Amino acid sequence: MMLVAKNIQLLEESIRSWKQEGLTIGFVPTMGALHKGHLSLLERAQLECDKVVCSIFVNPTQFNNASDLDNYPVQTKTDLAALENANCDLVFLPNKEAMYPEGEASCTYNLEGLDLVMEGAHRPGHFDGVCTIVHKLFETVLPNNAYFGEKDYQQLAIIRQLTSNLSFNIEIIGCPIVREEDGLAMSSRNTLLSVKERALAPHIYKTIQAATALYKQNSVAQTKSWIEHEISKVSEMKIDYVEIAHAENLQAITGENQPAILCIAVFLGSVRLIDNILLNK
Ligand code: PAJ
Repeated sequence: MMLVAKNIQLLEESIRSWKQEGLTIGFVPTMGALHKGHLSLLERAQLECDKVVCSIFVNPTQFNNASDLDNYPVQTKTDLAALENANCDLVFLPNKEAMYPEGEASCTYNLEGLDLVMEGAHRPGHFDGVCTIVHKLFETVLPNNAYFGEKDYQQLAIIRQLTSNLSFNIEIIGCPIVREEDGLAMSSRNTLLSVKERALAPHIYKTIQAATALYKQNSVAQTKSWIEHEISKVSEMKIDYVEIAHAENLQAITGENQPAILCIAVFLGSVRLIDNILLNK
């Protein structure tokens, strides 16, 4: 039987009794509108932990754009059915007042520059919002392991930094990107695409995948401008940014054999999609 906790007290009761029994806890934080990407994190957590907690909370402080928050898909009933079906042990489903009793405000965090590039540079305040909610959730759930997708590559790096800054004894597990058959990275925002936009969307992954081969023989600047040109061939697409950065510290590539990550954000109509792929020379 899956428990659904709508307040912190109920959640804490279950956590306390599991800890007393010596059981390990895996945690999968989400904003709902669940798809196979989210469920892959749950499955991994189930393999590695005795009990799995999943949270669904559309966190207002990480949205830097009011219409993005208003349009964010909410489908709680379907989500609960999917989690029940996947044998999740507990779903934490707080409301805004439970998570932000003193009003919606973010804390600020020193993230060693990880938050100043890419998503951080283009979505002011976004990562402070993410860190604020993950900090609160970690303090409440106190998991042994927490699971995050490489789909949000920069977020994963930032959560590792946050966990270390706050000395949380939590293992952060990164999980591979789950894609649709045509290569499009699964995302809750994909449901907002029109039929025509959905048909165009796989162009993003095709382009970054092709760029992996190109990068072997070309510079960062050459690879980036090729990607910009490819994306511009689809008139419905507009690049927000494309970056090739050091895969660990996310700063500029300075030498030949550094591990690199290619991250891209593209507006397709009004929907903003992100994707990434590892590069090597
Ligand atoms: P959300 O976008 O719902 O994603 C929840 C988790 O699922 C994140 O760790 C994300 O990286 C992972 N995920 C999403 N799509 C994926 C895919 N196609 N393959 C693999 N993993 C995927 O990320 C957030 O929510 C929020 O910022 C949150 C961490 C919950 C804080 O509010």
